[in-house]
Amino acid sequence: MKEIKTIEFKDDILYLIDQRKLPITYEIFQCETYKEVDFAIKDMVVRGAPAIGATAAYGVVLAAKEFLNNSKDEFFKNMEEALDLLNKSRPTAVNLMWAIRRMRNLIEENKELSVNDIYEKIRIEADNIFNEDIQTNKQMGKHGNEVIPEKATILTHCNTGALATAGFGTALGVVREAFYTGKDIFVYADETRPRLQGGRLTAWELRQEEIPSKLIADNVAATLIRDGKIDVILVGADRIALNGDTANKIGTFMLSVVAKAYNVPFYIVAPTTTIDFDIETGEEIEIEERGSEEVTHIENVRIAPEGMDVFNPAFDVTPSENITGIITEKGIVRPPYRENILKLK
Ligand code: MRU
Repeated sequence: MKEIKTIEFKDDILYLIDQRKLPITYEIFQCETYKEVDFAIKDMVVRGAPAIGATAAYGVVLAAKEFLNNSKDEFFKNMEEALDLLNKSRPTAVNLMWAIRRMRNLIEENKELSVNDIYEKIRIEADNIFNEDIQTNKQMGKHGNEVIPEKATILTHCNTGALATAGFGTALGVVREAFYTGKDIFVYADETRPRLQGGRLTAWELRQEEIPSKLIADNVAATLIRDGKIDVILVGADRIALNGDTANKIGTFMLSVVAKAYNVPFYIVAPTTTIDFDIETGEEIEIEERGSEEVTHIENVRIAPEGMDVFNPAFDVTPSENITGIITEKGIVRPPYRENILKLK
């Protein structure tokens, strides 16, 4: 399996594969300050819920490094500002808020230590978040592989691979596991307008490992499902409510409706860090709206008329009744979701 270093932290510099540039060029984006990390998340240099969480954790390390010579009072005040800024860099993926909360709690619990010692703890915790995510993804791969037939055609949406996580991937991690355990699989990857995470990133990962696959325009999926060409649909998640409602990349909801109409199993693959135990239903999930240029332009070339208004939500919510199961590192959660999700807490 080819190693993809989506996020790498070395000598107090954060190196990110610049996902805005793939697959045309492979470039590394360097962050030396937490404000650069905030920019990288906002501008989608790095994207995908678990990847954003791990990146933000390293943003906290860079903030602590920057404030190392502060008095203790100043350090805590400046760190609080940095935590707040990073927490707001994108609104929907809860892994981001989860990682920031974990860092904030760590600082809180170690207030009596020296600033240097707190910095050390923060650095170790960021590495823990990063390493745990890879392990978690591998576990999900194993559980998810149980629902993949020996010969299967799988449909995916957005990018849920190594690029969306610290490594291996969520839904694409299940694809990897099925492929490397010798299953005869074929993948259809939705291109995923408007940012084309499927066409640019999933396709890149599938080509890297030569996993048999085809790229499709989003509008093709319903025809493939109706024609009995898809055995299982695997998608990731940005936030899961207690009742199982799931926010994921825009277009996921539409896929789930077609899947339900034609009885095709529809699985969410997500770590338990994507569950928001504080919200009851998907109605409470804030859906990010992004700039109109994502729709009016492709690679800086205008494709819509000047002055045209745009509605560009980055995510939608799939109601839990459309979801066959939620594949987590702790196993596959099935209905009744509220009861079974609470067991994961
Ligand atoms: O806007 P993005 O590219 O950050 O959205 C990513 C997705 O919606 C993924 O499907 C989700 O984060 C799960 S990926 C492990």
